[in-house]
Amino acid sequence: MFDVIIVDYGSQYTQLIYHTLLYKFSINVSLVDCTTFYQKWNANSSYRNVKAIILSGGPNSVLAEDIHFFQENLMNADIAILGICYGAQLIARAYNAKVSEGVNSEYGETKMTLITEDPLFVNLDMEQIVWMSHSDTIDLSSQKHLVSIADDIYSDIPYIWKHKSLNIYGLLFHPEVSHTINGNIILQNFLYSIAKVPITNGTITSTTNNILLEQSRNYITKTMGVNDNVLLALSGGVDSSTLAYLLSSVIPNNIYFILVDNGLMRHNEIEEVVSSYDDCVKKHIYVAYEGDLFLNRLAGIVEPEEKRKIIGRTFIDVIVEYANTLQNIGINITHLGQGTIYPDVIESGKIPHSKVIKSHHNVGGLPEELNLELLEPLRYLFKDDVRKLAQLVNMPPSIISRRPFPGPGLAIRIIGDITREKVEILRKADYILRESLKRHNVDVWQSAVILLPVKTVGVMGDIRTYQNVVALRLVDSINGMTATASRVSIDILIDISTKITNEVKGISRVVYDLSSKPPATIEWE
Ligand code: XMP
Repeated sequence: MFDVIIVDYGSQYTQLIYHTLLYKFSINVSLVDCTTFYQKWNANSSYRNVKAIILSGGPNSVLAEDIHFFQENLMNADIAILGICYGAQLIARAYNAKVSEGVNSEYGETKMTLITEDPLFVNLDMEQIVWMSHSDTIDLSSQKHLVSIADDIYSDIPYIWKHKSLNIYGLLFHPEVSHTINGNIILQNFLYSIAKVPITNGTITSTTNNILLEQSRNYITKTMGVNDNVLLALSGGVDSSTLAYLLSSVIPNNIYFILVDNGLMRHNEIEEVVSSYDDCVKKHIYVAYEGDLFLNRLAGIVEPEEKRKIIGRTFIDVIVEYANTLQNIGINITHLGQGTIYPDVIESGKIPHSKVIKSHHNVGGLPEELNLELLEPLRYLFKDDVRKLAQLVNMPPSIISRRPFPGPGLAIRIIGDITREKVEILRKADYILRESLKRHNVDVWQSAVILLPVKTVGVMGDIRTYQNVVALRLVDSINGMTATASRVSIDILIDISTKITNEVKGISRVVYDLSSKPPATIEWE
């Protein structure tokens, strides 16, 4: 028996709602795919005893949706219902509100103002920062059941609608993302005050963190037979390193680690990574130096998805070759371990109803006929969960605090085709950026330099130049699902710009990327 059901319509953020309810609020919650939900509702009477149903967002337009089921069953169920974005629009449409394709879309930070007091806003100010990711607009004037209780600070576009007599709410924004500052309070008000879900523990405790650890350990022991061996693709980042520490504590005699130098790593990366591990991990690592193989295969490739797929596929080729080498000396590798986390999976479009945003190298590049079973214990976790796990498995703090770096490396920060010369230019600029941030004591969630295929005119020592532009991408985030441009002081940015243009041949102009995610992503490709 569950207290809350989340119906998943394929949003990027559905797992964030699920994780918040399960791990932060300790609520008895079930996540159900929108298609099976309908069958389950009809077949299973316990579904009708839940206290609340949350309808997630989704990538489609409700204009294309069959809303028959919602009207027939949920409107009259006497269960508190919260629709988020797509889910909210589904509710609006079911009550005959006019949904139309918006002239202006809304992505990222928006200011919302509350029109009236409501149990949903207990303890909240009348003005709220919320995060949007939608394009359809809603006009409530064509129906009588729903009222707007919050709208855009500058206009009367409804942002929250509510049924006049039932506990049915629609939120056009996403309360589950960390950038909606009071999103958790809004969710708690809905769940506890409106839906009357029994209150358990409202904060993250060491117990819930230990559950994360137990679940991950159990997954490993259940998946791995006694004679099985895993080859872990290690990148040096937090995710795969956490998995390495986990594996070395659970099955220390059945692990082999491979660190692939793909020629697209940052300055000194391989040496720094290897030396930062404790012996329990270090002694299992084999470093494959395969820069030429990757760069040759990438020559002339411009399209980002193609780059990502080639890189993913080449990683697998290198890994399989090492697995075969081990096989030849009598070690039977049965599993491929990867530190895949949930955003990699969802952005690669591998969740029902979701769309491909970008094929993460460890998800989108896997061949259909891989002869190894996948071992991905972190597949349903977000970066902040992984950092908690990392502490529990005693990973050195220097690795836990490593800033994210994508598996395809500098390849997806060179817009256009990749050459060795461009990789060298970008590597230098990236090193200057990271060293400068350290020197200025600036700690951002992620930092990157992007090499643009744009040349502009400059003047250096009285001579006209015609050289490339780089963009600085510094972002603040909690889990990489949403992000904002870091508010780094302009003096520091100018200092970094000067250092890059003075020290890196080929660059004469530096620009700063101000966009949030959404609508942009953190990486440019
Ligand atoms: P985006 O660019 O999608 O990135 O906003 C979110 C986070 O994921 C990282 N990223 C990747 N990590 N393999 C990875 O291991 C990939 O293919 C990949 N693509 C993006 C990105 O650096 C950011 O931290």
